[in-house]
Amino acid sequence: MPRIAYVNGRYVPHAHAQVGIEDRGYQFADGVYDVVPIVKGTFIDEDWHWDRLERGLAELRIDQPVSRKALTMIARRIAKMNMIENGIVYVQVTRGEAPRDHKFPAKPVPPAMVVTGRHLKMPDDLAKPQMIDVITGPDQRWARPDIKSISLLPNVLAKQAAAEANAYETWLVNERNEVTEGSSANAWIVRRDPESGRVILKTHQSDQAILKGIVRTALVALAEKHQWSIDETPFTVDELMSADEAFQSSSGNMIRPVRSVNGSTIGSGETGPVTQEILNAFADHIASQCS
Ligand code: PDD
Repeated sequence: MPRIAYVNGRYVPHAHAQVGIEDRGYQFADGVYDVVPIVKGTFIDEDWHWDRLERGLAELRIDQPVSRKALTMIARRIAKMNMIENGIVYVQVTRGEAPRDHKFPAKPVPPAMVVTGRHLKMPDDLAKPQMIDVITGPDQRWARPDIKSISLLPNVLAKQAAAEANAYETWLVNERNEVTEGSSANAWIVRRDPESGRVILKTHQSDQAILKGIVRTALVALAEKHQWSIDETPFTVDELMSADEAFQSSSGNMIRPVRSVNGSTIGSGETGPVTQEILNAFADHIASQCS
């Protein structure tokens, strides 16, 4: 069964899928994308992904290429044609193809849309993922990472730095020594207040400095239900190093407990009890959407 991609209205073999060399995504990274996870054939938290894609398009003043209804149909068709039980659907929309000129095309061109699907191996038990090792590195991105733009060069370099350090992810640090997020995931720590004993989850607030992840959004909603205390403020690298537990969240890898940062073990070096509770609740959140 060959892989099939959707490109500007056509379903084509992935190996032959093409966009023009003057597509503004190719030349200027002038576009946005989203990644929707599929578990047991079900699109997880789907509407939140389309909301975010539409918001990114509006922020960049790129026309919506198709209606939400058409988009959901195309995404489903791609998942079906590629027989994706567990994996992701990737959607990319750019400002379209036009003679190279930085400003928007004077004569409007239709936005270009590509949709692909990919199988991913999920852990047998979603509540028991592998731990990861993390390094820290400078956050060198533009000032609007809240827009899920396809301009990902700093993220690419950060992820490569992690790979070269035999780590899985780089958590990005701003000029105030605060962790904003990972190169492709939101970053969290768990701290127990030494005086009150209260457990607090900390993650950067969803302002313009981070991407408001959909898994992050789901966890914030679950926190209310489970009465976890979330402190949406930045944490410093020092706080991270002395945290009781740490984990990251993303649609590609769901929740991944952190074993070490820059070679130093976090907490016990095992998945901590609070992270495990969150993993269990998130696995239930997914299961409740799968028929
Ligand atoms: N990355 N922060 C960044 C910079 C990201 O790239 C991502 C997702 C997240 C988590 O967002 P979500 O929970 O919606 O997946 C946070 C995707 C998976 C990617 O680029 O492949």
